[in-house]
Amino acid sequence: MHYIDLPTFTHELVYLRPLSRADAPAWYAYLTKPHVLNHTSWDLRSLDELMQKFNALESSDSASEIRLAIVLRDSDTLVGTIGFHSVSALNKTAEIAYDLAPDIWGRGIAPSVCDAIVDWGFSHLGAVRIQATALESNTRSVRVLEKCGFQCEGLLRNFRMVRGHPRNFWIYSRLNPRIGIVDT
Ligand SMILES: CC(C)(COP(=O)(O)OP(=O)(O)OC[C@H]1O[C@@H](n2cnc3c(N)ncnc32)[C@H](O)[C@@H]1OP(=O)(O)O)[C@@H](O)C(=O)NCCC(=O)NCCS
Repeated sequence: MHYIDLPTFTHELVYLRPLSRADAPAWYAYLTKPHVLNHTSWDLRSLDELMQKFNALESSDSASEIRLAIVLRDSDTLVGTIGFHSVSALNKTAEIAYDLAPDIWGRGIAPSVCDAIVDWGFSHLGAVRIQATALESNTRSVRVLEKCGFQCEGLLRNFRMVRGHPRNFWIYSRLNPRIGIVDT
């Protein structure tokens, strides 16, 4: 993993730490629940398939995916993940991704951790733009992005295959406030 300092994030219920292979069973358990899966692109058929993702997550390549664990303070149990994929050193951009176990939905955890990691993406990765895509049907995720200050840039039609079907995705972004938009 190619990060040194973790994002600053304080919450009474959960904290952030690096994701480890030992978290995979807890991650898999909620990711495969139909109401979690329905509005995401995940297509996991086995725990083994999720374990394979850790090879990329553990890479030291600066363009590799970054994923942090969101864990309960009192038991260190994984209840969510958040991070960046499609990291481009050339363009200084990255795409945010997150998921939470349904037991802790509705407490504003995703917007606050999203805010913390976006700030970290600007300061530690030097990103000028962080984007997010959400399935057209994913109203919960769209709410998270809006609460986190992301701006909608439109609907990407047939943007990704989701479990064998082409699906539309909203695209949102937040720009590094220290850089903003440079007009030429
Ligand atoms: C999207 C997700 C991360 C939201 O996290 P969260 O911490 O619950 O976020 P919030 O508490 O701010 O709630 C966001 C919205 O979800 C809805 N919501 C909240 N609690 C809910 C519940 N128990 N059941 C269904 N929807 C709920 C509400 O519409 C809420 O918006 P509001 O606060 O304006 O009413 C979470 O639902 C999740 O992990 N979903 C599955 C994975 C996923 O969709 N990831 C994003 C892929 S782009």
